[in-house]
Amino acid sequence: MVIRGGRPLRGAVAVSGSKNATLPILMAALLTSEPIVLHNVPRLRDVHTAIALLEGLGATARWIDDHSVELRVGEVRAHEASYDLVKTMRASFVVLGPMLARTGRARVSTPGGCAIGARPVNLHIAGIRALGARIQLRNGYVEARADRLSGARLWLDNPSVGATENIMMAAVLARGLTTIENAAREPEVQDLARLLTAMGARISGAGTHVIEIEGVERLHGATHQIIPDRIEAGSLMVAAAITGGEVTIENAPTAELDGVIAKLRESGAAVTVDDRGVCVSRSAPLRPIELRTLPYPGFPTDLQAQMMALLTQAEGTSVITETIFENRFMHAPELQRMGADIVMKGATAVVRGRSRLSGAPVMATDLRASMGLILAGLAADNETQVSRVYHLDRGYEALDQKLRALGAEIERIPE
Ligand code: EPU
Repeated sequence: MVIRGGRPLRGAVAVSGSKNATLPILMAALLTSEPIVLHNVPRLRDVHTAIALLEGLGATARWIDDHSVELRVGEVRAHEASYDLVKTMRASFVVLGPMLARTGRARVSTPGGCAIGARPVNLHIAGIRALGARIQLRNGYVEARADRLSGARLWLDNPSVGATENIMMAAVLARGLTTIENAAREPEVQDLARLLTAMGARISGAGTHVIEIEGVERLHGATHQIIPDRIEAGSLMVAAAITGGEVTIENAPTAELDGVIAKLRESGAAVTVDDRGVCVSRSAPLRPIELRTLPYPGFPTDLQAQMMALLTQAEGTSVITETIFENRFMHAPELQRMGADIVMKGATAVVRGRSRLSGAPVMATDLRASMGLILAGLAADNETQVSRVYHLDRGYEALDQKLRALGAEIERIPE
């Protein structure tokens, strides 16, 4: 992606459906033989990977329009998610719970490490084991069997999003009551619970730290509208702030962005919320802030790289602490190559501003890091070239088109 920086972004833009809501929701189609119709599905590489996984297990998928898909898993014909698949998209590990619940067996590769941290799946496994599954770890695969899972009371060491989703999907068809304590409260978990409820599941407490699931005998088909992507919305808000422009983000899920709005205001951006969405503008210099990533409703780790780019433009010293992933500052050395002054020590990064950023060839290491680099490019002098943008295509739909419509000079060239 080639960016010529220095142009304030102006105009209105709409966000796509949430990637991290869509991925587990697609897997939920395994829980019934009836059709699941999903609207507002973002056309992303990860979504296509998830659908290909389901097709390999026996699903038929039919696109009804650009952003609506009908999935039907009449019969589950395979029971395995291969290493090749899971290593390219770790979110496919959440296939374990629904596959096991539907068929009594599942063989899913463990994902291995990732660019942002070790990201183990021990909590997923312990939770599903607590529901009575017999689980063996063999040849890099989790092999699980159960005649019918039975409800249990469990407590998560930390409120893992993926573990909460996986366990929830295993528990909906179990015998009796499952209670997940210290569950993740993320809006994406709530969206999955809404779909499962529409399919006939009995779930209460999604969005709180205690989720209760009363197992049912069977689930049926349903239609569901995926929530808008709060991380895409937050990224575009930062784009408005870093370029000193004025952007309205239509359909931004403002209630889910409270922490982000608070931090942007603290840094000197003007943020107004109305029923059309959220409008972000900036005319004054940016101020330094302290920021700590936390599970929802705390500040999202998925917006940390973008905020780091922003804070290179603040007048003074900002402190960013990443508490979710142990290796999520990979964008910092790339920002340094563009002239940023960032010192890292463990989980903390000290960003001294304001730095005059100058365009450079930089390399994206993961999805959100790519977005951080693009934002820096929008604020930099001259030309910035971000390579490995396939990371970006995993999670931002038509980002270059959306930014161009707001006045950015950004172009995709073949690598
Ligand atoms: N963890 C464990 N054991 C487990 C599971 C998680 O120790 O069994 C740890 C992780 O290593 C991490 C922390 O718990 O340190 C939180 O991880 P979590 O399980 O909540 O993350 P995830 O479900 O793997 C989802 C999103 C991520 C997002 C995180 C945190 C999806 C598909 N992915 O991952 O999104 O950063 O929650 O909010 O929903 C992204 O979109 O770029 C992305 C990485």
